[in-house]
Amino acid sequence: MTDLNPQARQMADESMVRGLEGQARAIWPQEMQLIRRYALPDEPRILDAGCGTGEGSSLLAELFPRSRVLGVDIIDDHLALARSRYANLAPRLTFEHQSVFEFEASDGSLDLTVCRHVIHSIPDADRVIAELVRVTRPGGYLHLISEDYGMLHFQRGALDPRDFWHVGAASFGAATGTDLFIGRNTFGILAAMHLDAITVDYVVVDTLRVPRETFAAILTAWRDGYCEPIGQFTPISAESARAYFDQMIANIRDPQGYAVWMVPVVSARVAKT
Ligand SMILES: C[S@@+](CC[C@H](N)C(=O)[O-])C[C@H]1O[C@@H](n2cnc3c(N)ncnc32)[C@H](O)[C@@H]1O
Repeated sequence: MTDLNPQARQMADESMVRGLEGQARAIWPQEMQLIRRYALPDEPRILDAGCGTGEGSSLLAELFPRSRVLGVDIIDDHLALARSRYANLAPRLTFEHQSVFEFEASDGSLDLTVCRHVIHSIPDADRVIAELVRVTRPGGYLHLISEDYGMLHFQRGALDPRDFWHVGAASFGAATGTDLFIGRNTFGILAAMHLDAITVDYVVVDTLRVPRETFAAILTAWRDGYCEPIGQFTPISAESARAYFDQMIANIRDPQGYAVWMVPVVSARVAKT
């Protein structure tokens, strides 16, 4: 049977909680501008699928002050943290244990369905996208952060980070049945589902747009959570993975260094019948 959550341990780790905070700080200021483009009603009903600790869900609830936002995830500790952190936004913002493979929402009941940083980490991403389409109303929008590990660029030092991302991401994906390059494949999935108004934009997390320490905190969290499984699933040893991460973190912190993570943000509108 396919493991539907092959990164379950890393997702539940303390380093992931740190990483998600850093990612939200780095990404949201640019992502928010993209979300503002959607033609939504005054009181939009929003689903945040795979909400983790609720960073994105709370930012959505704040961006749309009359919205109702439901965040769903399968890690109860994340949901509990989300409920306590964002209690000030309840009952407009709620969190429930639900799988992204099977939402409880009825067909066409949501104006905006959001899925951030999830579909690269699970197999059968197209099933999740189909489920998002099912619950989105005709004329409503899907908004996906669809990661792609071929879109991170660092300067070369003693090690060449291109080798790390090229070899590491391909073999990690193959071993876990996931597509770590799904950013570039999402357009085709949405097009095959006959969705309208498909867009692919990029949030640019680089050393000019994002504070170096915020960017470094993301890579530090990834290092702390992923060296061990990289050692297990790829030809790169855990020790070597740590050396690559340390060099990339130093590259980000170097006042004269430049590094960039291009984050694909893909959206589409469900066709009106
Ligand atoms: C990298 S985190 C992203 C969290 C959040 N969307 C954000 O942007 O901060 C991925 C989340 O997807 C969740 N996830 C993985 N498989 C899932 C599933 N089958 N159903 C619901 N959530 C799932 C994980 O538990 C984890 O919290």
